[in-house]
This record gives sequence, structure tokens and C-alpha cells, in this order.
Amino acid sequence: MSASQLAALVAHEQQLFIQAHPHSQALAQQSAQHFSHGVPMHWMRDWGTPFPLFVQRAAGAQLTCVDGLVYDDYCLGDTGALWGHAPPAVVTAVTRQVAQGLTTMLPSPLAPAAGTALQDVFGLPWWQMTQTATDANRAVLRHARAITGRPRVLVFNHCYHGTVDETLVVQGADGSTQPRPGQIGAISDVAATTRVVEFNDLPAVAAALAAGDIACVLAEPALTNAGMVLPEAGFLQALRELCTQHGSLLIIDETHTVSSGLGGYARSTGLQADLLVCGKAVAGGLPCAVYGYSEAVAAGMRRVDAAREPGHSGLGTTLSGNPLALAALHATLTQLMTPAHYAHMLRLAQRLAHGIDTAFAQRQLPWQTTRLGARLEFAPAPAPRNGTQSLAALHDQPIAALHLMLLNRGCLLTPFHNMMLVSPATTEAQVQHFLMVLGQCLDALHFALRPA
Ligand SMILES: Cc1ncc(COP(=O)(O)O)c(C=O)c1O
Repeated sequence: MSASQLAALVAHEQQLFIQAHPHSQALAQQSAQHFSHGVPMHWMRDWGTPFPLFVQRAAGAQLTCVDGLVYDDYCLGDTGALWGHAPPAVVTAVTRQVAQGLTTMLPSPLAPAAGTALQDVFGLPWWQMTQTATDANRAVLRHARAITGRPRVLVFNHCYHGTVDETLVVQGADGSTQPRPGQIGAISDVAATTRVVEFNDLPAVAAALAAGDIACVLAEPALTNAGMVLPEAGFLQALRELCTQHGSLLIIDETHTVSSGLGGYARSTGLQADLLVCGKAVAGGLPCAVYGYSEAVAAGMRRVDAAREPGHSGLGTTLSGNPLALAALHATLTQLMTPAHYAHMLRLAQRLAHGIDTAFAQRQLPWQTTRLGARLEFAPAPAPRNGTQSLAALHDQPIAALHLMLLNRGCLLTPFHNMMLVSPATTEAQVQHFLMVLGQCLDALHFALRPA
């Protein structure tokens, strides 16, 4: 397929989208009067559609747009709706709480039960709540610096942990720490706050930690924001041991990898985190995140607190831990994060991955899926070792065209890369339908998906 054929196909699909969505188009024009980019948050424009799809209703694993079209949702709010949209357990808990108050700056009676549920699910004894995973990551970095008395954090190249200044970095060609490109108002000296190495590169981790100035390693157990990069055998265990050896804390960000299995990746695989962060889906889609920590870290926090001078700790936002979030968190931990739900999600995700791999193989396309429980990603083979390899493989592929074609046929994928999520509400019939639609799209795009 030539570039002009691909452009003609995209133009045709854009016309289909425009014709099918007159109400979304009208709302987009009206919103543009007051919202920059026409949307309440700028990344809502990142879908590759001529204008955003306005959603009337989201329930289970489906969205209905304002033009009455129904979509099978595999984006699931980029993990925020991992348990399905408006899960009944959360709706009931939140509805009950709404009439009793939304925010008070005081704990509700559910606090003890939510704390117990956090320990039961994730295995760590101590917890705090924030509004977003970004906030939770900011908080754990502060704690880690305070406890260790060291200035820097270590992250992996092409990681994403939210809009946390210290983590918006990439590795320069000479190994130096550089601001991630494209940032608005980036802090100038990221080398003072952060070191960055490639994922799966143990010698680089060892060398960075040996400098003795790293407070913590902040890591997803698999990179999920640069395509998907799985840890090589023994990598995370060796990372754990290196952190212990060099006195750096290991922070595991499970915001996306909670898809792996009950309790997240670390719990499922026996990896011992010093601190753990989980946001997005942890309260069924309500704004809420949590961070947990070991008894040793809690003791370190107590020491820091006792020694510090009076004043603002630099931690906290007003609405964190509000009773609505607490109710949703408790309902999610006790009624949605269940062995039965994970069994359903993992079984269907495996079917989906197998079906996608078969669709590629039947067309001799050298693409493949990588899966972390209920989360999967398809990308050109071979599987990447690190974020740099992963992004290089995805570069210039006609992914936007594929996503638009899928969307026009009722299947929604996350716009950022080829990530798909399976929820407890996703059905076998939806998976079958997706595989049929994918086959049609691959037939049309076949040559554009071949390596150059
Ligand atoms: C691994 C990880 N951590 C943290 C975040 C930040 O989440 P939020 O944008 O909800 O603060 C993200 C967002 O995509 C993420 O992927």
C-alpha cells in the first residue's frame, strides 16, 4: 500500500466518522467556544478522529455516543474503568455515600475496613490515599528522599508515572538525563533529580545505584506506556536485591499492572516492594489512588516526621481520602478485585491475544501480542527489551488508520498505542466480534502493516 493509498483510506474513514456523528460534531463546535482544543482535557483530542466522540453513557464494557452508536470498549478509560464502566458495586456504594456528604476533611467510618482490604489485596501494612496516581507518585518520591537523605530517583527510559517532574525524563545519547521532549515549562536541571537507564539493563541499574545518591527506584514491573515491555527472567528479583544492597527503596507502580492478577504484579509474583502505588482503577473509576509501604518504611517516615521542623510537609491535596473515594475504594477492593473476576478477565484476554496472533499469522504479518493478565498490546515482532526498542518498532506504523477503522466498526482502542483491556463485563461475543472486525481491517491495511 502506497502512502497515497493509505491517505485515501484514512480520508474515507474520516468521512464515515463525520457522517455518523453529527451530534458529536455539533458538541465539539460548541465546546470549542470555551474549552481549549474543544475538550475539558487536552488529551481527549488524541484519538485520531476528526473531532472527539462525545459519550452519552458508559456501562459495562460498552460506550454509547451521543449519536446513539454503541462501541465495545477495550480502552476502558486507559485503565480507569478496568472493572467495566459504572460497576454496580461502586454505583451502590457511591450512591449510598453521596447523600451523606461528599468531602469533609475527616475520615468516614469505612476507613478501618478500607485499610484492612488494602492489606488483604496488596499485602502491605501501611497506606495513604491521594486523588491520582500522579499525586501518589509525587508523595512516594518525597518520602523516599526524606527517609534515605538522598537526592535522586532512578527511573527507566520511556517510563510514564504521571505528570511527576522527576520522572518526565529520557536518556540522552551519552547516558545523561534529559527532559522528556515536548514538555511545557520543563524543569531545567533534571540531572539533579533523576537518573535514567534502560529497562532490563541490570549492569546499568547496578552502576547507577553504586553512586550512592539514589533514594529510590520507581518502576512499573513491565513498561506499559511505551508499547509493552515485559521484564526478562530474573530482572525484577535482581533489581530488588540491588536496591537492598545499595540502600535504595524499591517503589512499584501498579497503576497499569494491576491487570496482571489479584493484588497486582508484585503480589502475584512474590516481588517485595518497599512502597507500592496504584491509581486509576483502584476505586472503580472514581478519582482516587493509594500508596502502600512496609513496616520498615513506616518506621522511617515516623523518624522523619519526629525530626522535621514545623511547617507544611509538601504532601497532600484537599480532596484526598474524601468519603466518596473511600466508599468507592472499599467497594472495588472487596467486590471487584476478586479471584472470579480475574479468572474471567485473564481467560478472555488470553483468547483475545490468541485470536489477534492468529489474525496476524494468517496474513503473514510479523506482528504479535504481549500480554500482562487482562492487558495486552500488539506490536511488530520481535518483542522489545526496552522502551527505546519498543517505540522504534511502533514508529511510522499506520496505527492511527487501524484505530479509526476499528472505531468506525464499533471497537474502541486506546489512542496512544495498541493497548487493549478486558474487564469482568467483557463478553465472549464481544471478543469474537472484535476478531472478525480486526480481520476486515487487516485485510484492508495489510500492506501498510508490513515492515518497510
Ligand atoms: C504507570 C502509571 N502510573 C501513573 C500514572 C498517572 O496516572 P494519573 O494520570 O491518573 O495520575 C499513569 C498514567 O497513565 C501510569 O500509566
